[in-house]
Amino acid sequence: MIGIYFSGTGNSRFCVEYFLKKLAPAAKAYSIEDENVCKELEKEKEIVLGYPVYYSSLPKILQDFLNNHAPLWKGKKIYLIATMGLFSGDGTGVAARRLKKYGAQITGGLHLKMPDCITDVKLLKKSTEENKKMVSRAKRKIERAAVLYKQGKPTEEGLNVLYHLAGLFGQRLYFPNKTKSYTDQLKIDENKCIGCGKCVKLCPMKNITLKQDKAVPGNTCTMCYRCINHCPKQAITLIGKRVLQQGTIEKYM
Ligand SMILES: Cc1cc2nc3c(=O)[nH]c(=O)nc-3n(C[C@H](O)[C@H](O)[C@H](O)COP(=O)(O)O)c2cc1C
Ligand code: SF4
Ligand code: SF4
Repeated sequence: MIGIYFSGTGNSRFCVEYFLKKLAPAAKAYSIEDENVCKELEKEKEIVLGYPVYYSSLPKILQDFLNNHAPLWKGKKIYLIATMGLFSGDGTGVAARRLKKYGAQITGGLHLKMPDCITDVKLLKKSTEENKKMVSRAKRKIERAAVLYKQGKPTEEGLNVLYHLAGLFGQRLYFPNKTKSYTDQLKIDENKCIGCGKCVKLCPMKNITLKQDKAVPGNTCTMCYRCINHCPKQAITLIGKRVLQQGTIEKYM
């Protein structure tokens, strides 16, 4: 068994690693950003795939990874873990449908509520204590899911037609184009930026460059919020206008 994930701010990585720890402690997890991920994937038949849900859809970077490696999925048995701030409907279902088209068998699905990573929007903001409790609840849910998987009765959250309808009518119909392509909407306040280069190093899309000691965004942002949550000067925004509360999974452990 192997774990793979895309994770902007660490939630999905944490959930995949914790699930593997409870189910198959020798199994390793790889980010889709890891240069060895395809080589490792080819060797394994049983896969746990984790990712965050964006507008009840997949992050564009993950869509491209699944599509660009379509032959890799044939014959694989894949358990899906979708993380979200509140609601996704069919968070696992969106990947399941795509992977089935490529010949994979979906063995189950798990939905986990985790701290919201949208640093510059107030809507789902919780205190650090509340976020810690949320992570504890997710851990307990993962533990139960691992037991069920071992018993041959894996959870099937997000996979049936009712979840599909919930995802469609709950969100996707209202945000049809949000994750269809990469965005050019990332903003960096040059008055706040000190040119430390942290965002440049962290971006999975190499979407930020340094020019004359100032960070400059490009047009291939996958909206992962990693740079925004890490910038020491709170200079980066995407959906909102002001950074309200930075945090990554390490803060809630
Ligand atoms: C652009 C964007 C869209 C999101 N859309 C949703 C959503 O539709 N429903 C939801 O519950 N959470 C949503 N979230 C919250 C993330 O899914 C959640 O915080 C996730 O656990 C982040 O995982 P990560 O740390 O692995 O990146 C969204 C986050 C981002 C950045
Ligand atoms: S992390 Fe923030 S301060 Fe550092 S280069 Fe990027 S935008 Fe500028
Ligand atoms: S620019 Fe920031 S939010 Fe966009 S993909 Fe890169 S790290 Fe993620």
